[in-house]
Amino acid sequence: MSEEFICCSNGNEQILDAQYWNSQYISNTTGWDLGKPSPPLVDFFKTIENKDVRILIPGCGNAYEAKYLVNAGFSNITLIDISTDLVKKLQEKFAENTSVKVVLGDFFELEGTFDLIVEQTFFCALQPFMRSKYVQKMRNLLSENGQLVGLLFNRNFEKQGPPFGGNTTEYMQVFKQNGLNMFEVESCKNSVAPRANSEIFFKAMKINGQFEDQNPCCSLK
Ligand SMILES: C[S@@+](CC[C@H](N)C(=O)[O-])C[C@H]1O[C@@H](n2cnc3c(N)ncnc32)[C@H](O)[C@@H]1O
Repeated sequence: MSEEFICCSNGNEQILDAQYWNSQYISNTTGWDLGKPSPPLVDFFKTIENKDVRILIPGCGNAYEAKYLVNAGFSNITLIDISTDLVKKLQEKFAENTSVKVVLGDFFELEGTFDLIVEQTFFCALQPFMRSKYVQKMRNLLSENGQLVGLLFNRNFEKQGPPFGGNTTEYMQVFKQNGLNMFEVESCKNSVAPRANSEIFFKAMKINGQFEDQNPCCSLK
């Protein structure tokens, strides 16, 4: 990723559809790609005791996190991305791993239930008007005690996105309005250098009636 996280060729007024994202991979304009699993996510994965939790990584890109999870013994990982060329490569990469299912498709059309959904530069790749839909879809995909966990940019970007930035207050609001409680939010201390001091690490789960302010603590363990 570049210093300023200039992620893609100019997305100004573009429709960020399958063709757009595929062309980013074909032209190798993948400034978001860390080339390794994101350190805050690795630290989080180390805290999960149950290796059979059903994990989803939407907008997975090169899925370095999935490789990490496989090596750490996790048994049920689903990846989805909308880019044909990328997914073809992922299907080859994980061909021998029965613990990884690679899906080519639109996250918003995915069906299933997951205990853990991992957010890593997928939210910021979507136009802000999609944010309510993103949260609603996450809510539908999460199991009853499932968690959406990951990283969000806590900053704005000068150029038109992607990436599209924002701040914690607005994220908490859109999550709450659409049925997810961000029960843990903290400034990220171990971001990769280009993203230092600009990311939050969060955990969210379904708001269930009176338990809106629940802190489920250990439900993935
Ligand atoms: C900024 S990239 C991040 C990739 C990866 N998460 C990472 O951090 O390296 C956004 C990814 O989301 C994928 N994507 C965008 N819209 C999508 C959608 N509606 N459904 C599934 N994947 C999508 C793109 O193809 C791209 O791989």
